[in-house]
Amino acid sequence: MCGIIGATGLDDVVDLLVEGLERLEYRGYDSAGLVLTAPGELWRVRAADGTRSVAALRGLAASAPRAATTGVGHTRWATHGHPSVENAHPLFDCTGRVAVVHNGIIENHTEIGERLEAAGHTITSATDTEVLAHLVEEQMAGGLSLTEAVRVTLTMVEGSFSIAVVSADEPELLVAARRNTPLILGLTDGAALLASDIPALLGKTDRLFVLDDDQLAELRPGSVRVTTLAGAEVEPPALSIDWDLAAAQKGGYEDFMSKEIREQPRAVADTLLDRHRPDGSLTLDEARLSDDDLRRINKVYIVACGSSYHAALLAKYAIEHWARVAAEVDIASEFRYRDPVLDATTLAVGVSQSGESLDTALALREARQRGARVLAVTNVVDSSIARDADAVLYTRAGPEICVAATKTLLAQIVALELLALTLAQVRGTLSADEIDQIMESLHRLPGMIEEVLKREKEVDEVAQALVAARDFFYLGRNVGFPVALEGALKLKELSYLHAEGYPAGELKHGPIALIEPGTVVVGVATRNPLWDKFQSNIAEVKSRGATIVLVANDGDERAEALADHVLWVPAADQLLAPVVDIVPLQLFAYRLARLHGHDVDRPRNLAKTVTVE
Ligand code: AGP
Repeated sequence: MCGIIGATGLDDVVDLLVEGLERLEYRGYDSAGLVLTAPGELWRVRAADGTRSVAALRGLAASAPRAATTGVGHTRWATHGHPSVENAHPLFDCTGRVAVVHNGIIENHTEIGERLEAAGHTITSATDTEVLAHLVEEQMAGGLSLTEAVRVTLTMVEGSFSIAVVSADEPELLVAARRNTPLILGLTDGAALLASDIPALLGKTDRLFVLDDDQLAELRPGSVRVTTLAGAEVEPPALSIDWDLAAAQKGGYEDFMSKEIREQPRAVADTLLDRHRPDGSLTLDEARLSDDDLRRINKVYIVACGSSYHAALLAKYAIEHWARVAAEVDIASEFRYRDPVLDATTLAVGVSQSGESLDTALALREARQRGARVLAVTNVVDSSIARDADAVLYTRAGPEICVAATKTLLAQIVALELLALTLAQVRGTLSADEIDQIMESLHRLPGMIEEVLKREKEVDEVAQALVAARDFFYLGRNVGFPVALEGALKLKELSYLHAEGYPAGELKHGPIALIEPGTVVVGVATRNPLWDKFQSNIAEVKSRGATIVLVANDGDERAEALADHVLWVPAADQLLAPVVDIVPLQLFAYRLARLHGHDVDRPRNLAKTVTVE
């Protein structure tokens, strides 16, 4: 997610802006910028030097007009458009007298941009955000004030946003608004402040307020006026914060893992945004692969590591079932050395949230050298793997600080299902109606994840009951098997307890010898065509004394009768269910790790990105 800081009525406002951006750096970003207003002009500096961009701004700010008392700053986590100075916020309109910073995704930016260019506007960046500046320009050219121009503009856009807008015409005014992404307001006797996140305002004022969805705020020195987008005055609720900076950077949660687990509904929703055009077409982000290229694909190899490998395993089911294309999944570090058979009709897909895992990067390089076309599914715009690929499909989970992958994994599963649907669409193996139905089911997933997150206490109780356990088997069948692998990996990497993910049907071929009283078997028992067989597998281990924990669909009495503990989840369509079923297993591993006193954000021996072979 991007970071926003703004203020009006402050001497040396540039110092506050830079300090605020430094406090937001922990969120991860790839470029930064700020703008100051002065009568009749805007003064802007931007830098695109990765996580050194804010430091670069501090240097550039030395030449800022010291008389400026109003401005906004921004750290960008790219979702549309590569990290570059041209794409860094603040973004200008044609006149250079309106500047916008934005956090979120403007879903209909393509159509708006086309209309603006047809009307003579010059779009200079590859971002979704820039259209906002030009829409405001249009409205102000029609005689509206900055506030009313922003208000009208926001009635034209779809998607999620928190924005701050300034104009050279009204240099002391900051106009802000939000939908689905947070914005905090602050007030002092002579100034008004705003930020996308509390850390940026901590210690600046204790008069903090929350701007709610579809509300607009006018900030002037010493005053804040809030109205609904429709124009009705509202009194923003005060926010009382007793956090220190570290706590504030975690959004008040004890750790980043807790925060990121709760960001999963948004991560899934954002990854789905603007993928399914009104005409029913599905498109990849930067598909330097034409529909004909995709039609010519007769084999898909997916390579990845760790949790991304589990997402890849799930993609195999979706690609083969929906697109009827053979799909193979390889551990990236193995793929390179098995002399795989690839050619120009092969699509090699690399799944990597960081876009930097060397095993995956080298596997894709091997695939390209053998003639395959390469597609990257990653969370980091312009990452090494994204740059090397012929096409890219970005997850939009925002920065993930915790070493254990959570929101990026769910976003990967959904992105890979979009890839499978895109392949099915260009190959005609699914009808438009079938794709519509699947997209509707995908859009229901964030709500289901929210529902599971509400049940955290039930999961905690199960973890507490099993805190003494030392041996865990995670079992699943069909799409439940990669879910079992992911659940086991989360437990291993967070609680340092031994856990194995295993296909339930395979246990009887040897590993069942390990089952004894005290062994905990976690079964992914949500509905799928193999439920009856799975039930028998669970009965087999139960009869050998295992303690049974089942992830099961609400109301499943057979699961309840079989299990010692049940982690209840809403029922989702079979191929989409893993996005929901994984969540209680994340919470379970988290809680056991905490009960064992471990640091869930920085587990021993692990790195967030593995850039060695
Ligand atoms: C998952 O929780 C781990 N952090 C690890 O297995 C991770 O998924 C793996 O290293 C792959 O990382 P990537 O997605 O950035 O390539």
